[in-house]
Amino acid sequence: MLDLMQNIMTQTEQSKHEVLRSLPYGLYVVALQRSSGEDPNALVVSWLTQCSFEPPLLLLALRRDSSSLEILKDGKAFSVNLIDELDHDLARRFVRPAHRVGHKLEPEDYAVEAGGTPVLGRALAFIECQMVQLFEPGDHVLVVSRVVNVGRRRDGELLMAADLGWHYGG
Ligand SMILES: Cc1cc2nc3c(=O)[nH]c(=O)nc-3n(C[C@H](O)[C@H](O)[C@H](O)COP(=O)(O)O)c2cc1C
Repeated sequence: MLDLMQNIMTQTEQSKHEVLRSLPYGLYVVALQRSSGEDPNALVVSWLTQCSFEPPLLLLALRRDSSSLEILKDGKAFSVNLIDELDHDLARRFVRPAHRVGHKLEPEDYAVEAGGTPVLGRALAFIECQMVQLFEPGDHVLVVSRVVNVGRRRDGELLMAADLGWHYGG
């Protein structure tokens, strides 16, 4: 009986993992810096969605162990960079943690835009956000932010996690 229960629980756990992993996600580069302008950094994210029309709000989930979360708590703003589907290099560069690889953003072409956040020159489009509220219910901190500025640079198809065979979920 115990074996059967354990078997069912293992199967349920496996199904949960597989079903959650099958959700389709875009890949974005979120870029940010401290309020002093120091420590510009960027990371790849998938867990990002609009969550209000009026006011226009985005919801982003940030890992508790990311350098970006600490920088966000100081700078209180970030940009979301929409990436071309062919720009796999960019995603590979920003998926590595700053505490291991050092300054990721410095070698990149970027500029601080009107909303006060670093924006990549290679972005197809960008969304600048000001942090409104943080929620900490799990292993990612939920960041609700207001859209304060957007820009469109050129046309292109957006990079999806599946284009790189990457998954974030489960
Ligand atoms: C497909 C994919 C999606 C990811 N999505 C997120 C995400 O939504 N939020 C997050 O905090 N990290 C996400 N990550 C992990 C971060 O990109 C990674 O931990 C990064 O090294 C953190 O950088 P930092 O420590 O310099 O801030 C994702 C990774 C991959 C491969």
